[in-house]
Amino acid sequence: MNIKLHVIGTGYVGLVSGVMMSYLGHDVTCLDTDISKINQLKKNILPIYEPKLAEYLPALVKSGKLRFTSSYSAELQNSQAVFITVGTPPLPSGEADLQYIFTAIDNLCEWIRDDCLIVIKSTVPPTTCNRIIDYLNNKNLKFSVASNPEFLREGTAVDDFLNPDRILIGTNNKQAEDLLKEIYRPLTTRNIPLVTTDLVTAELTKYVSNAFLATKIAFINEMANLCEKIGANTKELSCAVGLDKRIGREFLNVGPGFGGSCFPKDMLALVQIATHYQCNFQIVNSVINSNYQRPYDMVDKIHYIIGNDLHNKVISVLGLTFKAGTDDIRNSPAIKIIEILVDKGANIKVFDPVGMNNAKKELKNVFFADSALSACKNSDIIIVATEWSEFKDLDWSLIHRQVKSPVIIDLRHILDGDMLKALGFKYCLI
Ligand SMILES: NC(=O)c1ccc[n+]([C@@H]2O[C@H](COP(=O)([O-])OP(=O)(O)OC[C@H]3O[C@@H](n4cnc5c(N)ncnc54)[C@H](O)[C@@H]3O)[C@@H](O)[C@H]2O)c1
Repeated sequence: MNIKLHVIGTGYVGLVSGVMMSYLGHDVTCLDTDISKINQLKKNILPIYEPKLAEYLPALVKSGKLRFTSSYSAELQNSQAVFITVGTPPLPSGEADLQYIFTAIDNLCEWIRDDCLIVIKSTVPPTTCNRIIDYLNNKNLKFSVASNPEFLREGTAVDDFLNPDRILIGTNNKQAEDLLKEIYRPLTTRNIPLVTTDLVTAELTKYVSNAFLATKIAFINEMANLCEKIGANTKELSCAVGLDKRIGREFLNVGPGFGGSCFPKDMLALVQIATHYQCNFQIVNSVINSNYQRPYDMVDKIHYIIGNDLHNKVISVLGLTFKAGTDDIRNSPAIKIIEILVDKGANIKVFDPVGMNNAKKELKNVFFADSALSACKNSDIIIVATEWSEFKDLDWSLIHRQVKSPVIIDLRHILDGDMLKALGFKYCLI
């Protein structure tokens, strides 16, 4: 059945969800108060980099099944469900800032019809949906509210949306559950599991999933520190450990730590939630501390390799985004490492295939090169900080001829070390 929907917020989650729900056959209007984003989208220009998304956008817009608007208006009255996908960034305390959620609720409840379902797709602390219900009740508004946390990953968001490991729905009434099941029917008919829970369980599940994944990353990074001291091979170790089905291969790649807009903020929020309910969370706190330390450990490694004085050393950093496949630099370990190195007086040259525009808003006192090759010219050391596969295919022989000193630290274990050593590079891994 074709359902009329609004998606509020066209960021990484809202835009992908809106486009893909339209692709599933629904009639979708994406609403964002950022007028420049909406103007771009109306011209079929994506305001974010997300592989595959551009393949879907023009045809859906042309068919009339996907629209974009920057205003809350009477058009909302047509919608049977409104998905809220606005940001929930951390407050200084670490708690999730819900102001964008409540502003969206205030704006939309002026327009939506009485039987419209409000679906919270943003990551929100447990009990938020109940808080929203109370908030609406105090205004004599009786809209249903459901939780539908999103698990897509930037860089593979389109495939993740179409083939999720599970769809999670938290509701407190049958009509809300039935409507959400209908919206996701095109996926569940392909045997994609749909899990139904109460509101608070769905909300908490998202935090627990992210915390577990972040723990895996921090865990393998700490084990890599031990590998270095003992002389064990981290890549072989994580492969051998991950092949155990009880453990699993994913999120066991050794690297410069986790970043992005979700794991760091969700870990902080989870600690705040635990503190509120007087639960002593030792593991999650340790993971936060361990990951905080990680960029400093990476800088220590750089010191170890090129000596203590970084003044006037030319350091080339390849990769700025928090991972490959996205232009998102929020909490990127690459950015943190660069900031520490700049403070220590190093001359930094950087390149990223898609993250340069976002990085230019964030990074000061670095040289933005227009190619990886130009970033590496006259370099004392090259650091691979994001696992972009194009870095594997660079003309490393040419780079070798242009660097001051042929040293590479591959923080992501993506380059062909044997080839680089044969070319004359000193190739260092974590
Ligand atoms: N980014 C991810 O990979 C990811 C994955 C799963 C879940 N989440 C969660 O999804 C939520 C959104 O994350 P994101 O990365 O897409 O955020 P984002 O910052 O990319 O996008 C949020 C969008 O909401 C818009 N917005 C803010 N207030 C608004 C309002 N009142 N009305 C209309 N639009 C408004 C902003 O202009 C922005 O475009 C967060 O809670 C996040 O934790 C994110």
